[in-house]
Amino acid sequence: IVDEEKFRPAFHFTPQAHWMNDPNGMFFLNGTYHLYFQYYPEDNVWGPMHWGHATSKDMIEWQQREIALKPDEKGYIFSGSAVYDKNNTSGLGRENDPPVVAMFTYHDPKGEKEGKINYQSQAIAFSLDSGYTWTKYKNNPVIKNPGLKDFRDPKMTWDPIHKKWLMVLSANDRSIFYSSENLKDWQKLSEFGMQTGAHDGVWECPDFFPMKVEDSEEIKWVLIQSLNPGGYNGGSGTQYFIGDFDGKTFTPERNFKDLKDKHNYWLDFGRDNYAGVTWSNIPSKDGRTLFLGWMSNWLYAQEVPTEKWRSSMTLPRELTLKKTNSDYRIFSTPARELEKYKSAIQLQSKRDQNKVVFTAPAQSDLMSNEFNFAIPLKEIKKLQFSLSNSQNDSLKFGLNTEDHQFYVNRKKSGLIDFSDKFTQKFSTAPRIVKSDTLKVNFIVDRTSIEIFYDDGATVMTEIFFPEEPYTKFGIHADSKLEIENMEISRINTDGKE
Ligand code: FRU
Repeated sequence: IVDEEKFRPAFHFTPQAHWMNDPNGMFFLNGTYHLYFQYYPEDNVWGPMHWGHATSKDMIEWQQREIALKPDEKGYIFSGSAVYDKNNTSGLGRENDPPVVAMFTYHDPKGEKEGKINYQSQAIAFSLDSGYTWTKYKNNPVIKNPGLKDFRDPKMTWDPIHKKWLMVLSANDRSIFYSSENLKDWQKLSEFGMQTGAHDGVWECPDFFPMKVEDSEEIKWVLIQSLNPGGYNGGSGTQYFIGDFDGKTFTPERNFKDLKDKHNYWLDFGRDNYAGVTWSNIPSKDGRTLFLGWMSNWLYAQEVPTEKWRSSMTLPRELTLKKTNSDYRIFSTPARELEKYKSAIQLQSKRDQNKVVFTAPAQSDLMSNEFNFAIPLKEIKKLQFSLSNSQNDSLKFGLNTEDHQFYVNRKKSGLIDFSDKFTQKFSTAPRIVKSDTLKVNFIVDRTSIEIFYDDGATVMTEIFFPEEPYTKFGIHADSKLEIENMEISRINTDGKE
């Protein structure tokens, strides 16, 4: 492998070459998951945006396809979504040949340069071959700019309750809802968010959909709303709101009515999960809410030490909605499709009262692995996990039980000086579920860690760039350490090892 390739994840999507940011237009059809993405095919930094395209049978192994949408005289192709128009409500398909319809934001760089504010509008395109080739609609834009400077990232969804198409987009400090019968004519319904949530940045890349509350028949609506900067640990981050939707207005639950900037309803508290949204057209017999985000942060995304390509997506995740003590919470876990790539392994370990260190066999490492275990917290006040190599690079993460704070510290994780923002501070996250036993699940894929604590109640995703692979995993406590149900797996993907 070329040197450069040592930082390329094995089972997360990365473009073969060049720059990528947000996931776009994710839909499922005929056994295939489609993923489009903000793509600049001429450089490894952000530039005139295209929609790149990749397909997968299981959201783990991806095949990159031809570019789906290219910029034109109306502007760059910014983020958006896609739906399968099964009943050809748009009339853009042929008889017995329904279209896939995408909506994206046209970003007109000329207008922006001239200092105008109306340079973003919403446009559609359709595909008659299940998403491989696209035709832009002739009467674009379908939603003109109403005089708002940041007006973008339309996310369409079929509203199964009110039986119409819905769309939510972000406009600087708010989400705006629209509906349509035919995906071409859109009526504004309402706005949300000026009074609540984190506002230390521009709202971008929303998503809006109903979910069943686990173990009940109750339906709640979820609004995902990314913002940049202003994330929980600085830079980009993704918050959410839970409430009711009457077909017109989104009314948040009491807990979501006046959230301050540092509230704790975030899909992920780590710094590297942004602009994530859910797949459309997941069959109802599957019924899952499947999510994936961009695994980077605008603070340093364009400086990370990969030259040929830049950025990766997160693992696909299943979102569930749970209610505990009148609080609604989103939980995330890795999509079960990862299971078939896992094989259980044993690692040599050395332990004493308060600590244990697992070591990878010679010639091997811990860079494509999953760890699953539980720790009864009892007297423990400080619990620290570390992944390290023989050069003393180490990624540290853990929990302080006194203030119920998790953290990730990548200060000594490897290459860090490509950006002074990368390790400026370590990340923290509140422990949401405070049971006596801490459940830990984390997945490492060369340059990323995705940590799912307490069955996915608190999630932290972060990237790192060690010059040599991590070969040791340690658990250190400040009092007697017990470990339950330790399961370690190697994750193998065909042809990439
Ligand atoms: C979020 C974002 C979107 C925009 C896109 C441009 O990362 O800023 O709001 O559509 O990236 O690439």
